[in-house]
Amino acid sequence: MTQDKLKELLQDMSLEEKVGQMIQLPADVLTGGGLVTGPTGTTQLTDEQVGMAGSVLGIEGAEKICELQKRQMEKQPHHIPMLFMLDVINGFETIFPIPLALGCTFSPEMAEEACAAAAKEATSDGLHVTFSPMLDLVRDARWGRVMESPGEDPYLNSEMARAMVRGYQGDLHAKDKMAACLKHFAGYGAPDGGRDYDNVELSERTLMEDYLPAYEAAVKAGCRLAMTSFNTLNRIPSSGNKWLMRKILREKMGFDGVVISDYSAVEEMVFHGIAADAREAAKLAVEAGVDIDMVSNAYAGHLTELVRSGEVPEKLVDEAVWRILQLKNDLGLFEEPLRVVDSSEAEKVLLCGDFRQKARETAAASFVLLKNEGVLPLREDGRKNSGAEKNAAPTGSIAWIGPYVDNHEIYGAWSFPRNKEEIVTVKQGVEAKGLPGMAFAQGCYLMDKGCATKYGQITNPSDEQADLWMEEALRLAESSDQVVLCLGEHKDLSGEAGSRTSLGIPEGQMELLRKVRQVNPNIVTVLFCGRPLAVGEIAELSRALLVVWMPGTEGGNAIADVLFGDRIPQGKLSMTFPRSLGQVPVYYNHFPTGRPNPPHEIHLFRNGYLDQVTAPLYPFGYGLSYTEFAYSEVKLDRREMKAGERITASVTVTNTGDISGVETVQLYLRDPSASVARPVRSLKGFRKVTLAPGESREVRFVIEEPMLRFYDIHMDYVSEPGRFEVYIGGSSDTENRAEFVLG
Ligand code: BGC
Repeated sequence: MTQDKLKELLQDMSLEEKVGQMIQLPADVLTGGGLVTGPTGTTQLTDEQVGMAGSVLGIEGAEKICELQKRQMEKQPHHIPMLFMLDVINGFETIFPIPLALGCTFSPEMAEEACAAAAKEATSDGLHVTFSPMLDLVRDARWGRVMESPGEDPYLNSEMARAMVRGYQGDLHAKDKMAACLKHFAGYGAPDGGRDYDNVELSERTLMEDYLPAYEAAVKAGCRLAMTSFNTLNRIPSSGNKWLMRKILREKMGFDGVVISDYSAVEEMVFHGIAADAREAAKLAVEAGVDIDMVSNAYAGHLTELVRSGEVPEKLVDEAVWRILQLKNDLGLFEEPLRVVDSSEAEKVLLCGDFRQKARETAAASFVLLKNEGVLPLREDGRKNSGAEKNAAPTGSIAWIGPYVDNHEIYGAWSFPRNKEEIVTVKQGVEAKGLPGMAFAQGCYLMDKGCATKYGQITNPSDEQADLWMEEALRLAESSDQVVLCLGEHKDLSGEAGSRTSLGIPEGQMELLRKVRQVNPNIVTVLFCGRPLAVGEIAELSRALLVVWMPGTEGGNAIADVLFGDRIPQGKLSMTFPRSLGQVPVYYNHFPTGRPNPPHEIHLFRNGYLDQVTAPLYPFGYGLSYTEFAYSEVKLDRREMKAGERITASVTVTNTGDISGVETVQLYLRDPSASVARPVRSLKGFRKVTLAPGESREVRFVIEEPMLRFYDIHMDYVSEPGRFEVYIGGSSDTENRAEFVLG
């Protein structure tokens, strides 16, 4: 539709119709069912309002969507098509690894492809908008939603943000692309105590410098929607925060898309205590520039009347509706309201071989090898040939033990696969290798009896069963050359409403590990999780430890690939693994103190704890390979630069092992003396290199003045002259460094 026609449409719409565009229905209002992602019963709508609603959340299925679209458009006075929105987070039907794992790939290219695949599948199913990417910076592993974020670093998250928006949206007009929605604006990743939905206390500087860049990167990449966050920031919930939504998001960042509230967040401002009732909440939200009220009753119940009474200028409604109509127009919905490929086409797309292959590669690249005392890969020849000899047998018998050995639920809390049987378990992945000497045992229940989950308390059916499983597992472990333990936390212990006060795996699983260790110390532990866990004891009792997160559809195949050496682990942690819960929040880009302490030492009257060092167990950027990489000293092509000039920093990386491997070379900068304290280091670049045994490669990074900018003492975003430190290595704790001066 032309812009003139769109304007005509807007002018011709009644106030009720316009407000309708600003209302998002929960699925059950239209279908009596659908995906439920929050409290139900939050909206009370008249039939007329339902008929005029502009969008709906939580419905999938091309046929159903087409039928509802037709039905709704008939009721709509101007036959305006609806937007169908859903949380397509790490894949739609082909499930990719959770976003935190995607972060560990350090591969924006893979993230882009994962999102492009998700968009292709989701649009074939009739969807128009995904509530992704989630770009909340995360530093506190207690918070269950860390699984949805790329991780703890502003630079990495920004790279991922751009890639994900590109992947989903590309050219929005194409039928296999969908609109992306960055979320949760802003600062939702820092709730007090790691408790979901809690208050957020961030200084303006920390907000600007650490928390906002990834959202801004998504805005600059053209992301079409933004979602408000549930939390308060500076005591104001985002859905009513005019400064945040208008001044920062729209004016400063230049966002001109649609702002949608989070699930019933507008009306929840009453519970926050900043609105007396839903009516006042609606007024605050519309003034803050919230265009769509997701499933609360605030806009539906009060906005029309607020305009009629003159308390809300109609202009605000017009602006919001204009943005919504623009989005619908850019999606081509006016011309093609049933914007789906035909169903035979959809069948070809969902879970197609190409996507499964990508999911497998991506999952393997996201696994992080935390420890390896030479036991991995399991296949001798894998160590030498990196998969060239795919049929070489392992050196002995292997016992695969644990509740994650034959478990399909390895796709994370934000995926809703229709057919769980399609998810490849570890057992299936191992069996597909066709190797002799493999045996499998459950070992124990996945969760402890009495454990609280989002869906109630766990009641494991039988203690006798648990004893039998344990006996069988121990017999098997004792009689095998090698044990692979597949352990971890349940997928629903992370994700929304998945905050925890402990960072361990269930006690029943720890008991299994301890007992197996007594009969066979030759243990490789494969750890499934949606957050960094405190893995000290697990690492100590295992000879190798591989974190596989929630790997998705091809998880079992990818795990078998990596364990047998058909693929080489290459993931690097995108979020720090603490030693204990007490260290949390813990992140690599922290600030120096006036009482610095060597991170691995404890000294009285120095920064840190009495009973534990400050160094985390495994820092951001850390991850092993089956080979090793040596770094030369950091070389700088000059030692001084001025604004407008550049310095090239380089290292030579050498694969010193006897198999090929992929290394993520990381560049960190530090400004050791500035008008405000600067982080001990900040990631400013990374490069993945594949090196054959013995091969060396020079890796270069260009350093320019804008990379040195920060919010100075006056809150101006500038660089300050002086000395800078450059670190290049394979992890955030590298000491490989050089220095230069900015004149
Ligand atoms: C979550 C959002 C999600 C929305 C819709 C909310 O509870 O916070 O991330 O997009 O539900 O499902």
